Amino acid sequence: MSFASDDSELGEVLLTAEQIHDRIAELGAQLTRDYAGRTPLLVCVLKGSFVFVADLARAVDLPVELDFIAVSSYGSSTRTSGVVRLVKDLDSDIGGRDVILVEDIVDSGLTLRYLRRNLEARNPASLAVCTLIARESADIASLDVGYVGFTIADDDWLVGYGLDVAQRYRNLGYLAKYIRPEG
Ligand code: PRP
Repeated sequence: MSFASDDSELGEVLLTAEQIHDRIAELGAQLTRDYAGRTPLLVCVLKGSFVFVADLARAVDLPVELDFIAVSSYGSSTRTSGVVRLVKDLDSDIGGRDVILVEDIVDSGLTLRYLRRNLEARNPASLAVCTLIARESADIASLDVGYVGFTIADDDWLVGYGLDVAQRYRNLGYLAKYIRPEG
């Protein structure tokens, strides 16, 4: 597998564009079955999910609507370990809607817990979560994540397909391990 960049911070390709595409087709088919007869509202959690939601929306054979929300978390490190704050709210009223929250990755679950509480308070008809990636240690069951693309090991730090390090690498078509520079 060749890299789109010879950047030394890019490591092994963990998921190729083809693997991602194939899994999204499966998720799309599953959503198409589960939401038959309805018009789900896909809520993209910015920024990381923008690539995934674009492909997922096109893999669902139903009328779907899209909206965008942005949150940021403050912590003592680069890991999300602190308080979540709403940066950009949805444009639409989700009361009575079938909402599917679309995440690129569920890591500690902090972001998801916040968003679930926040969105449930707006009385949607239903609220489901679809994530491309979940960490092994993420408590998918208690977080009630109904749709998971891939599960990855806790020590893998990934970039590409929407995921960044310092805002870079989001435009890679695949997911690769990130190698922290020395020093
Ligand atoms: C990432 C990702 C999730 C969150 C998951 O967002 O998109 O929203 O972290 O982590 P958690 O489960 O530990 O809360 P990030 O804060 O990196 O922002 P970005 O999407 O703009 O890159």
